Amino acid sequence: MDNNQEVKQKIDSLRKLLERYSYEYYVLDNPTIDDIEFDNLLKELDGLEKQYPEFYSSFSPTQRVGGQINKDFKQVTHKYPMLSLANTYSKDEIVDFVARAEESLNMKDLEWVCELKYDGLSISLLYEEGVLVRASTRGNGVVGDDVTSNIKTIPSIPLHLQGNDFPQEFEIRGEVVYPHKAFEEFNKKRIENGEEPFANCRNAASGSLKLQDPKEVAKRKLDCYLYFLIGDSIKEKKHYDRLRQAKQWGFKIAPYMAIATNINEIMDFINYWDKQRDDLPFDIDGIVIKLNDTNYWNTLGATAKSPRWATAFKFKAEQAKSKLKSVEYQVGRTGVVTPVAEFEPVWLGGTWVKRATLHNSDQMDKLSLCLDDTLVIEKGGEIIPKIVACEHDKEKEEKGLLEKVGFIKRCPICNTPLVKEEEQAGYYCPNYNHCSVQILGRFQHFISKKAMNIETLGGEKIRYLLENNIVSDFASLYELSENKLIGVYSLTDDKKLSIQEKGAKNIITSIENSKQVPFERVLFALGIRYVGEVSAKTIARHFENIDNIINAKKEDFVLVNDVGETVAESLVSYFSNSENLLEIDRLRQLGLRFEIEKKQTKDILMGKSFVVSGVFKGYSREEIKKVIEDNGGKSVSSLSSKTDFLVFGENMGPEKKKKAEALNIKMISEEEFNNMLTNTNEE
Ligand code: IVH
Repeated sequence: MDNNQEVKQKIDSLRKLLERYSYEYYVLDNPTIDDIEFDNLLKELDGLEKQYPEFYSSFSPTQRVGGQINKDFKQVTHKYPMLSLANTYSKDEIVDFVARAEESLNMKDLEWVCELKYDGLSISLLYEEGVLVRASTRGNGVVGDDVTSNIKTIPSIPLHLQGNDFPQEFEIRGEVVYPHKAFEEFNKKRIENGEEPFANCRNAASGSLKLQDPKEVAKRKLDCYLYFLIGDSIKEKKHYDRLRQAKQWGFKIAPYMAIATNINEIMDFINYWDKQRDDLPFDIDGIVIKLNDTNYWNTLGATAKSPRWATAFKFKAEQAKSKLKSVEYQVGRTGVVTPVAEFEPVWLGGTWVKRATLHNSDQMDKLSLCLDDTLVIEKGGEIIPKIVACEHDKEKEEKGLLEKVGFIKRCPICNTPLVKEEEQAGYYCPNYNHCSVQILGRFQHFISKKAMNIETLGGEKIRYLLENNIVSDFASLYELSENKLIGVYSLTDDKKLSIQEKGAKNIITSIENSKQVPFERVLFALGIRYVGEVSAKTIARHFENIDNIINAKKEDFVLVNDVGETVAESLVSYFSNSENLLEIDRLRQLGLRFEIEKKQTKDILMGKSFVVSGVFKGYSREEIKKVIEDNGGKSVSSLSSKTDFLVFGENMGPEKKKKAEALNIKMISEEEFNNMLTNTNEE
């Protein structure tokens, strides 16, 4: 083809064709060509676009496979806040909700649209002139993340709309879900690669949208169902008609919707889906009912969080029963031994479940767990399945032959007798310095992102090094060289994957870089029992350097906000162990930071004014104000247009929140505030 016009026409027709095939396949679930044909057309288009870059379009089907890497997700302020829904597990409350709406509107027999409550991640898509221009997550409802390039990889989301009767600008909201089939395939691959599988579809969907590389997102095979159209110039006044219209424009609207005109019809819908939900190809966690006539939406209005014209009924946690096979014991990095029940696999909440934690020996006693028991397993909104009851074997019970499952007496890894701490619910292995699983766990913690951030070494490669006795303690990591790493492979895996030259180089670089990690993270990285990220920060700030911590007594520790007896005792015990002190000394000599960087943190908040509200985890009110001022910021008591940030803790007053929203003041959590303080020290 040498005529440019001809090329353009060919490109346009291929794009249109591919969009149609994609729509038929992903939205209508009714493919009209086979995958190979589709791929060939896509390749042809891709070839032409590469040859004629002047015809590039970010809306081309070729761009779905993954655009540019997202370094940081841009923050987007929603034009219309993304409200959530009030929800209830009680049918009586649904009756009350409907009655309240009827009363407020002084009308009977209102029309309600009943829909599925998709269990995924909510998303808002902005279309201008019929093309997708932005996709953002809910975030805090006011401000979300711009995830456009990730969203474009979801094939059922139209990049161009069909027809021409759409408003010039509108938003459409819906839920990104991970269909069961794709989720299972994906988790299978993760397990094959030695990665931790995702606990459920919702987590996997939300984790996927946070990935930095859209090419990875494209591989996840996500889907998206839309359920809410919003904009200033939408013609249809009925919600149901709006969704029907959106379907005409090419959006995926689930067919499982119904109009109900009385409470019985609403209940029929709820009861039907409570039974049938397992047959759906994706997860739902309830039912949503919305008033059909949008004219009434304004009349009824909304509370601070949710509209009064819609509500959600949530299904009770799903339960399943299965026979106990055995109790396994896992040893964590701090030596705590966790019992895990293994049972016959059961299908529960969208996945096969075959083990669940029993937490500790007290919990086992409470459940009165016996051999041959049938377990009642539950998985609600929570990620982890839990055992809520045990049913004893009838025959054994009648004959008085029940045998309680006793907790093991020795560490399953190193055979050291286990110890039960006073007032603690569980046992632990006291062989802190020599139990191999504890050592591996501690190393994995040490190199993790929130600690020393030596992730190039990864949880697996560190195991190779330990197995081969190439590292023995944290300090020995800093004595590694590329030569020592190249060619090292796992002695326990058949795959014998070894560390290559490039990998070795990256590992050494990130070990070297980790010497810049601030003191509070080094303290966290040491893996002292009960010292989490937040308490490490508080302790580091309070004592300012490691010598002050080493010399501190239990009484000094408990004076620090949020450091209780248990943490204080653990700190004293850790710093009275001579092996630990020797290691700290070596790490210090190797160049790790063991004191707070005062200078660096001083000006971080310069020129910014803060209002704090609520109860904080890591600070008292006075402390957080002091931290703001110590870092150059101004702490003021009431919100005004000059305030830059509202730092909110738990139970922030609703008035403050409203006012901050009205003044468009950025609201940040304690965690986000902490990140502001440490950001300049990272990467
Ligand atoms: S409507 C103003 N409809 O449930 C109404 N939400 O807390 C906006 N969800 O954040 C929501 N299925 O993520 C609506 N059919 C559905 C839904 C749905 C799932 C999610 C959504 C929202 C949460 C409610």
